Amino acid sequence: MKIAIVGTGYVGLVSAACFAELGHEVVGVDIDEAKVAMLKGGESPIYEPGLEELLKSGLKSGRLTFTTKLEEALPETKIVFSAVATPQGENHKADLRAVFIVADTVAKHAKHDLIFVNKSTVPVGTGKLCEERIAKILSGRKSKITIPVVSNPEFLREGLAVTDTLMPDRIVIGINGETGTARMLMEKLYHPITRVGKPLVFMTRESAEIVKYASNAFLATKISFINMLTELAEVSGANIRDIALGMGLDHRIGPKFLHAGIGYGGSCFPKDVKALLVTAKEHGLSMPIVEATDKVNVNQRERFIKKMLAVLPKKSTIAVWGLAFKPKTDDMREAPSLDVIPSLIKAGHTVRAFDPVAMDRAKPLLPKETILVHSPMDAAKDADAVVLLTEWDEFRGIDLKKLKSAMKGNLVFDARNCYEPEQVRREHLQYVGIGVR
Ligand SMILES: NC(=O)c1ccc[n+]([C@@H]2O[C@H](COP(=O)([O-])OP(=O)(O)OC[C@H]3O[C@@H](n4cnc5c(N)ncnc54)[C@H](O)[C@@H]3O)[C@@H](O)[C@H]2O)c1
Repeated sequence: MKIAIVGTGYVGLVSAACFAELGHEVVGVDIDEAKVAMLKGGESPIYEPGLEELLKSGLKSGRLTFTTKLEEALPETKIVFSAVATPQGENHKADLRAVFIVADTVAKHAKHDLIFVNKSTVPVGTGKLCEERIAKILSGRKSKITIPVVSNPEFLREGLAVTDTLMPDRIVIGINGETGTARMLMEKLYHPITRVGKPLVFMTRESAEIVKYASNAFLATKISFINMLTELAEVSGANIRDIALGMGLDHRIGPKFLHAGIGYGGSCFPKDVKALLVTAKEHGLSMPIVEATDKVNVNQRERFIKKMLAVLPKKSTIAVWGLAFKPKTDDMREAPSLDVIPSLIKAGHTVRAFDPVAMDRAKPLLPKETILVHSPMDAAKDADAVVLLTEWDEFRGIDLKKLKSAMKGNLVFDARNCYEPEQVRREHLQYVGIGVR
């Protein structure tokens, strides 16, 4: 089946490459000419494990192509996905301009029936708005074609995006009205995945739109819940890892998303949590749990920065390990490093930073005083302190003896609770974690 995926970012490109791998004919569309040129040459503009191999194999098979012009992708296309960004707009409201441009362009240029699918994360009611815009344009064109609007939110995790796309926990589809064709096309599209037992669940478009925000807000809440307890653990002499272990072994709770640390970042949780609050407010509702989730997260980041500043000697040299918001990605959106590094520099310290894959993307976002180096040990050489911000295995497995002998000082700030405090102390390093002693 021929499909078009508009927006070739973390979601759109992975989806395009995976659908091509599953046998569909896919056109990836993006307004960014430089990005499309790279993609045509088989080079991925983003770091995502396994993606470049799929990109190359899709191009080789001829099933994956790229263009900057959506109208060129439309002939014979059965499904157009919007996977464009929906960043935080004014007052934390989701900025839907790109989604509407895509919907309008499809409506202006389509010459046959097709379906428009929102994979971008959009607030409840956006599908209806797209449908109205499309209907208006089609009626202006006096066109009889039909373009139902479907919601198909994306749940992939950066760093695991290829696996999550090919083997998702579930595929959620929201369809309203008499759209048997839309249902049939979505079933056909996902058949290579559902045939191995992965559930495809149908519901109304509104429910599907809310599932996405509700899932992210719930996961963020789990993180903030455990982070909320770190302060109590610190003042009472408890250990947050033991608390999380004791809680997580209860099957009703489960161990995932109970890792205390500096708080969540990334392109989704912070913006989706805030956007859900805006949506609630627009409906005259409040969501106190979601509000608290956001507040705890902001506080957690600030608390850790204060903790560091309180013990750092004046004019320290600090090694920062990890810049992206999590391992195995180069995504810098809402990364803790973007708050931590400016605060350290502002306080008069020198920062030497390293990230295995995010340095190019990070450089323009960091203060110009930040010194970027080529390895964790380069950063740690003669440093007064090391701050671990992203839990790459490379940092987890560092030789602590070598680290101690490379450093001038002895402070280790572990913003992800990666190390065993006792092991760190054994090397005569001073350990500062979150909610652990
Ligand atoms: N990144 C994630 O982990 C993730 C996970 C689930 C859902 N989402 C959601 O998926 C959507 C996309 O996120 P992303 O991280 O892939 O964003 P992204 O910023 O990485 O990619 C968006 C792409 O859309 C392109 N674009 C913008 N306007 C366009 C237009 N009018 N026509 C064609 N292309 C256009 C941009 O050039 C960019 O390449 C967002 O709504 C996001 O909330 C993201």
